[in-house]
Parts: sequence; C-alpha cells; structure tokens
Amino acid sequence: VLLVFATSDKGGTGRSVTSSNVMYRRALLGDDVCYLDFDFGSPTAGAIFGIDFCARGLPKQDGVGGLHDYLQSRTSEAASIDVWSKSERQEMRDKPLDAGRLVLLPGDESGGEFPSSREVVQRCVRLFVRLQEEFDVCLVDLSAGRSQAIEIVLAATADKQIRNSSIVTRLLVFHRWTRQHILAAQGLVEGARGLLETGAALKHPPRELRSSVRFVRTAVVSSELQRQGNRAAQIAWLKECDRQLKELAGRLKLGPNVVLGQTPLDPMLQWREQLITDDDVWGRHVANSETAKAFQDLALDLDNPTRWEGL
Ligand SMILES: Nc1ncnc2c1ncn2[C@@H]1O[C@H](COP(=O)(O)OP(=O)(O)OP(=O)(O)O)[C@@H](O)[C@H]1O
Ligand SMILES: [Mg+2]
Repeated sequence: VLLVFATSDKGGTGRSVTSSNVMYRRALLGDDVCYLDFDFGSPTAGAIFGIDFCARGLPKQDGVGGLHDYLQSRTSEAASIDVWSKSERQEMRDKPLDAGRLVLLPGDESGGEFPSSREVVQRCVRLFVRLQEEFDVCLVDLSAGRSQAIEIVLAATADKQIRNSSIVTRLLVFHRWTRQHILAAQGLVEGARGLLETGAALKHPPRELRSSVRFVRTAVVSSELQRQGNRAAQIAWLKECDRQLKELAGRLKLGPNVVLGQTPLDPMLQWREQLITDDDVWGRHVANSETAKAFQDLALDLDNPTRWEGL
C-alpha cells in the first residue's frame, strides 16, 4: 500500500490540482485510491473534484465531520465522499467499469490549522492503518510551507504501527520551474526546521527519509509553446533561462535523479482548477494530451521501482 504525501514550500504551486489529477489517473488505471485533504488552513479539494457541496470543505452537520473533526476527536470517523458519484460532472458519473474507487476525505469548512499533539498523531496513525485495508494508494495533500500538517504526518509515519505495516511512504515536493520556487523547495527539504530535520527529530532514519523524497515540477512552459507564440529574442531568452534553472537545480541537488516528473503548462488549468478527463482531451479538445499524459506518467511512477532507487 502506497501512502503519498504532497507538499510544497510556496503556495499556488499546482500541488493540489496535480495531485488530484494523478489520483484520478491512478483510479482510471484500476486502483482504489483515496485523497486526503490535510490542507487544514484551506481545505478546498472538493472544488477541484467538482463536488460543489464541499467545495470549501465539509459543511457542519450533526455527527458527521471531516478530517478536522476526526483528528481533533470530535467525531469517531472521518467523512468520505465517493468522487465518481458526487461530482457535478456528467463524465465523472459515468464511471468506467474497470476504474477503481476514487474517494475524497475532505476537511471541514472553516476548519483552520491546529497544532500537533500526541492524541492528534494517534488519530492520524489509526486513520492511515485503517485506510491501508481499503485502498491501494492514499495521497495526503499537506498544504504549503512548514505546516502543522507536516509535523502531524511525520510523527504518525514514525510510529511503529505504521513502520511495521506494509505501508510504503513517499514524499512529493511540488514546485514551479522558477528560481524562487527551486530555492524554496530545496529549503523546505534541507533547511532548518525542514522535512529532513523535523523527520530526524521524530526518529525517522535520515537516509531512508531522504530517499523517499522526490520533486515534481509543475506548469513548465514547453519548447513547443515557445516556438508558437514568441519572437526569436524571447525564445533565446527562455532557453537561456531554462539552462540557468537546470544549472541551479543541479547545484542544489534537485536534478533529474530526484525529479519524479513534470507537468506542462496547460491553458485549461490556468483558468480553472479541475480534473482533466479524456473527454476534455479527445472529445472537446479543450485540454492538451501532453498534460493528461504527464498526470498518467506520474500516477504510474508513484511506485515504479526504477524511479525510487535506494528505497
Ligand atoms: N500544469 C498547469 N498548467 C497551468 N496551470 C496550472 C497547472 N497546474 C496547476 N495550475 C494552476 O495553478 C494554480 C495553483 O494550483 P493549486 O491550487 O493546485 O496549487 P497549490 O500548490 O495546491 O496551492 P495552495 O498552496 O493554495 O494549496 C491553480 O489555478 C491551478 O489550476
Ligand atoms: Mg492546494
């Protein structure tokens, strides 16, 4: 069972939209998958999945709570939503017969961040252990920066109940292909109070933790786009810029061997956060096939052994 954590240092990196699409692609490939919205400060995953009634998190209801309520012991179970049947999009409700489950565990509307505590961590451990019985892949969207959510899950995954289980954990760090984002992503992993330092303090074996980290570059401008709309001077500048970014990434040890994949800039996603369906690509031609392919490649690479050497 795969337990994937998605994080980034900057906000608005494309972490949630990419993660949602990757899990959707994985469900289309036949796996049972679950998306957990641990972006406690802003739990809007429902909007990406097209589930209007929890677009800003689960509304208050007696006895039913989302992840905020569950982790803070206000309800005994975390609410789960079947994306296929609850999406407002008709194409989603026509679930392909061979697709797996696609389930969202939403946060609570107006929930807000809350600190880690022994009790919260224990609830989190219990949740991960229970989910592994039901799903092939679980993805936890952790919000941006050095968040409480990161502390909670690093403490939970250090727990022996998880370490002694068949759960395999992976950490994806999302960033845009710009100088600021590359520097920030590296700082989040390697810097003071970053992922590795926080993990080590919680007794994660450092080498193992490091080898579970991969980077995902989002909304990268393709050379094709460069050719289409830009002047020769712009294309030359973009190429030089790309060269400098590659050099910077390499110097900071964010080079190809720790990059799981990248997504191309897609006009559809610039205008709306949503799942890109095959109908968007092949039926209505409003999204690029390269984008859907990038999501599918990432979905396959989550547990492709050649991409995770050392683990
Ligand atoms: N490949 C892409 N091409 C163009 N736009 C994209 C792409 N991927 C994501 N976006 C857009 O970038 C914006 C930010 O994406 P998203 O909300 O997923 O980021 P995030 O890192 O989860 O942000 P936050 O920190 O606010 O949770 C969204 O409008 C999204 O649709
Ligand atoms: Mg997000």
